[in-house]
Amino acid sequence: MGRRSELDCDLETERFHLRRFGRLRTFLLTRRWRRDPELLEGLFLSPRPYSLLQWWFRGPRPNGRTRFAHAIVSKAGGEIIGLHLVVRLRDGLAYCHVAVHDRAWWGRGVVVEVRARLLSHFFAHGTERFVATIDARNAPSIFNYRRLGFRATGNGTTHDRDPSTGQGRPAVELELRREDWTGLAQGDRHDR
Ligand SMILES: CC(C)(COP(=O)(O)OP(=O)(O)OC[C@H]1O[C@@H](n2cnc3c(N)ncnc32)[C@H](O)[C@@H]1OP(=O)(O)O)[C@@H](O)C(=O)NCCC(=O)NCCS
Repeated sequence: MGRRSELDCDLETERFHLRRFGRLRTFLLTRRWRRDPELLEGLFLSPRPYSLLQWWFRGPRPNGRTRFAHAIVSKAGGEIIGLHLVVRLRDGLAYCHVAVHDRAWWGRGVVVEVRARLLSHFFAHGTERFVATIDARNAPSIFNYRRLGFRATGNGTTHDRDPSTGQGRPAVELELRREDWTGLAQGDRHDR
């Protein structure tokens, strides 16, 4: 196990604490979420549930070096309302996942606020480009990426397969490069 990465730290936004979570805490936090079909597909990219043991190996498996989890904690109430994941690949490439478990917070700009802070953090520490392959049915996710400045680069298919066809579903490919993020006019930035 390597030294803990400087990326692996708690962060703050205006309304939220972003608490770094390791593998065990992530596993325990999300165990009930895996019974929720929307969260199951959106966060865990799985059309079906697995046993707890299978989940332990399947992940998410944040390790603080290439895979990072942050619990989203409301500053107002102190409760955990969701989880954000960032995975770093080779060559400065990264992607993310998110779920807001507490539906009372849907439609209140949580993802844009939280992800903006994380994008700044990762771009400041070596990440060159974020990419995303989003199920074309997941309008909120696509809108959130676009709002953060991601541009659509083409059509693709989801990595997880639709059980009825055995194939990936239609997806939208998006990307955000570091220079695009740092070049955004101050007024357009969402990480303040
Ligand atoms: C993804 C998720 C976190 C989004 O939550 P959210 O940010 O509160 O989503 P919102 O309802 O605010 O939708 C985001 C934007 O999409 C727009 N939108 C949502 N559904 C839409 C639709 N059907 N058509 C057009 N626009 C839509 C909203 O108006 C909003 O736009 P705005 O920022 O301009 O107001 C939440 O739906 C979730 O946890 N889903 C399950 C897990 C998941 O799918 N994760 C994503 C995988 S990466």
